[in-house]
Order: sequence, then C-alpha cells, then structure tokens
Amino acid sequence: MKFKLKKDLLLGTATAATQIEGGDDNNNWARFAKEGKVKDGTSPLRADDHYARFREDIDLMAELGLQIYRFGIEWSRIEPQRGVYSAEAIAHYREEILYLREKGVLPLLTLHHFTNPLWFEDMGAFEHKDSPEIFLSFVKKAVEAFGDLVSEYITINEPNVYAVNSLFWGEWPPEKKSMRSLVNAFSNMTAAHILGYTYIHEARRKMGYHDTKVSFANHLRVFEPENPKNPFHRLSARLTEYLFQGAVTRAMMCGECRFPVLRRKGVTKGRYYDFIGVNYYSRSTVKGIADGVREDCYKNDLGWEIYHEGLLELSEHLYETYQAPVYVTENGTCDNRDRFRPRFLYDQLKLISERENHIVRYYHWSFTDNFEWKEGESARFGIVHVDYETQTRTVKPSGRLYASIIKNGGVTEEAFDEFVKDSQYETAPKP
Ligand code: BGC
Repeated sequence: MKFKLKKDLLLGTATAATQIEGGDDNNNWARFAKEGKVKDGTSPLRADDHYARFREDIDLMAELGLQIYRFGIEWSRIEPQRGVYSAEAIAHYREEILYLREKGVLPLLTLHHFTNPLWFEDMGAFEHKDSPEIFLSFVKKAVEAFGDLVSEYITINEPNVYAVNSLFWGEWPPEKKSMRSLVNAFSNMTAAHILGYTYIHEARRKMGYHDTKVSFANHLRVFEPENPKNPFHRLSARLTEYLFQGAVTRAMMCGECRFPVLRRKGVTKGRYYDFIGVNYYSRSTVKGIADGVREDCYKNDLGWEIYHEGLLELSEHLYETYQAPVYVTENGTCDNRDRFRPRFLYDQLKLISERENHIVRYYHWSFTDNFEWKEGESARFGIVHVDYETQTRTVKPSGRLYASIIKNGGVTEEAFDEFVKDSQYETAPKP
C-alpha cells in the first residue's frame, strides 16, 4: 500500500443542478448564455443532459463505488413562477433521490447553487430586502417534498463567490459593480441561510426525524502576501481574506454580523451549522485588492495554483474555531486532459490520510465534466469525461483511480503504478 485512507472518511463527488442537467431556460445563467456572455459560446441548456440521464449517471456512480453524493435541485424548475410549484419537477427529483438511495449512495442536497429563477433574478435576487423570506418559502417546499428522503442539506453554495462575482467584479449575471449590492447580498444570504437552517431542523423534527444535518458550502482560499516582508502586501492579504471570506463565514455560522455583513431581521446569535462545509481549490497571492497567483508554482488549466496543504490549513483552523466535523464539500481541479488529476487526487487524499485532521467527508468536484459557468464547456473538472455532442460518458484514469481507492481503502502499489506514477503536474505558462 502507498497509503491507507483515513479511517471513517467517506468518498464521493459533488455536482450542481445547472451545471449538469440541461434543458432549463428559466434561470439567470441560461439567459446569460443566450446573451452570448459565456466565453466559449456554450450554454447550460445542453450541459450533460443529466435531467434525462440521471439513472445512467447514478448507475455509473454505484459502479465506481462512490459512497456519498452532493447534488443540487434547480429552484427555477421547482418554482417556475413565484409561489407556483411544479409537481413534475418535484416528482422528478424524488425519483432521482430514491434511485440514489436504492443504489446505496448517501445524498447531500444543495438548495441554492449560483442560479436564480428569472422571476427572482429580475426582482433583484439576494439584493432584495424580502429575499430571505422568499428563499425560505422555497426551502419549505423542498423540505415538504424531500424531507422524508434526505437528512443532509446545504442551504447555499459559496455566498462569497456568488456575491463577489455577480455584484462586485461584475463578471457574472447581473454584472453589477457595486459595494452596496455586495453588502446587501452578503447580509440577505446570511439571513436566508439562518432561516433555512432553523426551518429544516424544525420541520424534520416534526416529521419525526432526528438525524438532520444542515450547513452551507463555504468557498475558502488561502491568502498569502506576495512579498511577506512588504507590510502593504500583508495588510492586503488580511483585508482581502476578511472581506471575501472571514466576515461572511462568521455571520453564516454564528449570526454574528460585522461589515460587510449587516444584521437582517430574524438573525440572532446562535449555531447555524452541523458540519463545516469547505469548498477548497487554491491559494491566492495578494498585493492589492484583486487576488493573483504566484509564478513559481504548479497550476491547473485555469491557472489556479495547486496547493494541497491549504485544505488542511483551512479546515483545521475552522475546526478549532467552530468545533464540528469537516465535510470537504468540493475539491478538485481543472485538467482538460486528465494528465495530472490522478496525481492531484493521490496527493490530496494522502495528505488528508496522513495528517491529523477532522475531515470526515470528501466530495470531489466533479463527477462528470460539466458547464463551468463563464468558462462554459471548455473547462473540465470531472473524473468522468463527457462528449457533449454524443453525451457519451467515459471514466477517466482519475475516476478509475478513485474507484480503486474506495474499493481498497487506500492506494495500492498496483494502482500507483497504473495511474499515479506517470501523472505529473505541469507549470502552466504565464497568461
Ligand atoms: C463552484 C462550482 C464550480 C467549481 C469550479 C466552485 O466555486 O461551487 O460550481 O464548478 O468551483 O470552478
């Protein structure tokens, strides 16, 4: 054995509804794509056609032995107009969840993952003062519909990435560049999470269940000053860290609001998580307000630094502060040809297995290649390759390695020789 997997660590993958399902034109990203805003001209309307092919995909998950699966439901399918719910969509997701359970894969359900129904987007989405209650109505419907089948929930995926990309950098819909919008979104998403967290617990308790677990998926980066000796770089790293993730983490987890998060109605201090959800991809090197990437490091195909230690640093820091089991709700890399993903998986899981930590779940991003937001279909994160024209799925070497790790409880000498030995990082050329 090259290494034995950490005891009690469950392995699986994560996806998001809009990135894999296809066919839904009632959300802000489908519209954004139609307006020609996605770099490669593709649209989530195609994606992986998973809405129609979910059985095939779940069969493949089961074949690979995946134990856990984080996935999303599309709000705009379930509530196509405000207050109008689709029985068809609800029935569809019930079928999907039942199929997962039948195949022995434990579901973790994400309620909001970047996309909004058009009616919600057009009223200002999470900038709107009523958005926490509007989101809560959707949560109520979801728990009524799926509460008997699902015990684990993520209310909101990466509020910071959503708010910063959409409302501060103006890169994502609705392409705003406004500090005020950012503050509103941070504040309302915090309230939405806290209302959702509280409601899911109450509702499932009334249904007679006592195994409910709720949290949010927090996008976390390591922020390093470009030159540690430069006080300005050090200050920018600390400030960026606080503004991007520090304040919103504290607010969402404990209801303690400090600028840029303002306290909204219904937000009181408390404990609003049952696990610590960490989405981790990279380290940022900072010298000003925008984040950068150092030159002397391994990078993925999107130019992000590959820095495995960061996941451990961040999760342990959070554990010390918040004392709950850590779920790595996303971790992965963009490797369009699967040249270094096997090495990436090996290095990351080895570190988790050999270092003292509190990680109990690892959801690799992602199962199939999928619609990577502004990058469209051009950026591949899957352990399963998708030919978008034919919708053919092919398990990549990284997927075969992952299956072997689960089956054998670690990386065997044979698996290492077959998948990892020749899989090497390359330093991406400077952009
Ligand atoms: C998001 C995913 C995305 C992944 C890779 C995360 O920030 O939650 O939707 O595909 O990163 O960029």
